[in-house]
Amino acid sequence: MTQILLPASVQNRVRQSFRRGLPSYHHAAVAQAQIAATLVQALRTAGAPARFDQVLEFGCGTGHLTTQLLQHFTVDHLTLNDLVPDCAAALHPILKQHSPSVTFQVGPIETLPLPPALDLIVSASTVQWVQQPADLIGRLTQHLAPGGWLALSGFGRTHFSELQALGGMATAPSYLDPRDWRHILPAGLHIGALYSKTIILQFTDTLDLLRHLRLTGVNGSARNHWTRASLASFDLRLRASLPQGAPLTLSYQPVFLIACKTG
Ligand SMILES: C[S@@+](CC[C@H](N)C(=O)[O-])C[C@H]1O[C@@H](n2cnc3c(N)ncnc32)[C@H](O)[C@@H]1O
Repeated sequence: MTQILLPASVQNRVRQSFRRGLPSYHHAAVAQAQIAATLVQALRTAGAPARFDQVLEFGCGTGHLTTQLLQHFTVDHLTLNDLVPDCAAALHPILKQHSPSVTFQVGPIETLPLPPALDLIVSASTVQWVQQPADLIGRLTQHLAPGGWLALSGFGRTHFSELQALGGMATAPSYLDPRDWRHILPAGLHIGALYSKTIILQFTDTLDLLRHLRLTGVNGSARNHWTRASLASFDLRLRASLPQGAPLTLSYQPVFLIACKTG
């Protein structure tokens, strides 16, 4: 039998990591903020209507995508979801400004009970944490109303290539390139946009880079017990993997998907 959820211990670590990073996430997550803005722009460009009745956002975090969505679309009923219960409080200021009717549901999106006829499902920078993205997309599509829209961003196979080259710290279970998405999308979805892009962040030193990972909570699947020796060794290996004099960078590789249910 395929495993729908991440093993409980890994999911706990992901939850703890995002929970710990929550107070700093909103300001530190500069790449995710850009990604949320790009995703909403892609939804507009693909010709989505200006108003949606029933909307679901999963993995809402502190609301980078929620903010963009509510700024650019009118939403009547919004169901927000995250693994971390504390996100509900973080979203209050954003929701107060726009006042759609809101329900917040805590838990893994993979097993969350969903409303039957959603007009729009959105999610930014979260689907890479899902163990079986094909199953999830199949289920989400079943819960879309005919003519309903899907706007998702995840990350591609070369996401954080600098870290992957050193043996995959800060990895997530499902990095999917656009071609991978084409294979797993169910019939009955018309693709409006599907592309990847690279966002490169630069850091002053290795500690600065590791701090960024911690503040954004994205190293949830990694064990993070650094000693002076392990840090020194990581620093050496990271620098050795770069051309001489090259800046220390982290390459985000977001993948954007906009689709519409045809039948
Ligand atoms: C990188 S943050 C993205 C937050 C927000 N969407 C943004 O664009 O800034 C990923 C979020 O997904 C949540 N998450 C991870 N796995 C999840 C799952 N299986 N179901 C629901 N939320 C999940 C985390 O708790 C975290 O808040």
